[in-house]
Amino acid sequence: MSTQTMEAGWTRAASIDEMTEGEVTAVHVNGTPVALYQVDGALYATHDICTHEHAHLSDGYLEGCEIECPLHQGRFDIRTGKATCRPVTETLRVYPVRIVGKDVFIRTGAPPHGAAE
Ligand code: FES
Repeated sequence: MSTQTMEAGWTRAASIDEMTEGEVTAVHVNGTPVALYQVDGALYATHDICTHEHAHLSDGYLEGCEIECPLHQGRFDIRTGKATCRPVTETLRVYPVRIVGKDVFIRTGAPPHGAAE
């Protein structure tokens, strides 16, 4: 793998060995709470705090590519951050993910998906 993942803005978030298929892993990246997901071998990263109230999505229930908030059962698509079930209506921030060897990098400074909302 090339060193392109070491560009400015990319930060190591975890080792792939810390992640489990079908589960959520909570990490902090540059002080930002981030939820990492592994679904069907693909990795995704979102902000870990629900857009409805203050709840950690990493404590929620992952079903396919949807994370259900543990507090009021709102749901988000972890690929896009789109709210898919009330009471959440505001898009969740998602972060680009790259893997270098066994290291998982994310870019927290990237513009969020659905930023136009
Ligand atoms: S805090 Fe997540 S749905 Fe209310």
